[in-house]
Amino acid sequence: MSDYSEWDEYYKNYPLAELGWELGRPRPILVEYVKKGFIPNGKVLDLCCGAGTNVLYLAENGFDVTGIDISKTAIKIAGKKSRLAKAKIDFLCESFVDLSFVDGEFDFVFDMGCFHHVELEDQVKFIMGVHRILRGGGLYMLTCFSYRNGRRWNHFTLQHIMNLFSEFFVIGKVRHYSSLEGDGVVRFFYTVLMEKKL
Ligand SMILES: C[S@@+](CC[C@H](N)C(=O)[O-])C[C@H]1O[C@@H](n2cnc3c(N)ncnc32)[C@H](O)[C@@H]1O
Repeated sequence: MSDYSEWDEYYKNYPLAELGWELGRPRPILVEYVKKGFIPNGKVLDLCCGAGTNVLYLAENGFDVTGIDISKTAIKIAGKKSRLAKAKIDFLCESFVDLSFVDGEFDFVFDMGCFHHVELEDQVKFIMGVHRILRGGGLYMLTCFSYRNGRRWNHFTLQHIMNLFSEFFVIGKVRHYSSLEGDGVVRFFYTVLMEKKL
C-alpha cells in the first residue's frame, strides 16, 4: 500500500489560495448537478474533502454529509469552516484505502480530484471500497484529470475510466471540460456520474 502522508505538507505550508485545486467556491459542476436534482438526497460522503469547500456546500443544501481526508491540517481547516457556518458535518481523518464505513451506508459519494491521486497498486481496492459503502443504486461522481492535460499515468481517457469502473458501476452522465483552477492554470477534467451495480 502506498504512503499518502505527504499531502499534509501542502495544507501546512501553503495558504489555501496557493493550492491549485482550491477554487474558494464549490465546484461549478457540483452546483449544477445539485440544482438539476441529479444528486440523490440522503447520506453523502466527500472523499478527499480537503479544506471542505464542496462538503460545506452540500451540507448547506440539505445533504447529510461526511468528509474524509488523509491530511489532519485539511480536516482542521474544514472543521473550523463548518463551525463558523454552523453546518453539521462529520469529519474524519482517514485514508481512502481504509474506508471504515458500513456496507451500503451512503446514497452518494462525491470525488473531486481524489481518484486521480490513488496509486496504481491501490486502484482496485479504492473502487471496490466505494462500491461497498454505496447502497444499491447509489451514485458515485468521479472528477479526474483528462488525457488532454498530456500523457501521464493519472490522466484518463473515457475508455480507461470505463475499463476500470464498468465491472462495478453503470456509467451515466459524462462531461469532458476545461476549468480555470485556483493557481491560474487551465486543466481538463472528466466528470462521470455512475450508479452502483448490485
Ligand atoms: C486535489 S486535492 C482535492 C481536495 C478537494 N476534493 C477539493 O476539491 O478541494 C486531493 C485531496 O486528496 C487528499 N488525499 C490524498 N491522499 C489521500 C488518501 N489516501 N486518503 C484520503 N485523502 C487523501 C489530499 O489531502 C487532498 O486534500
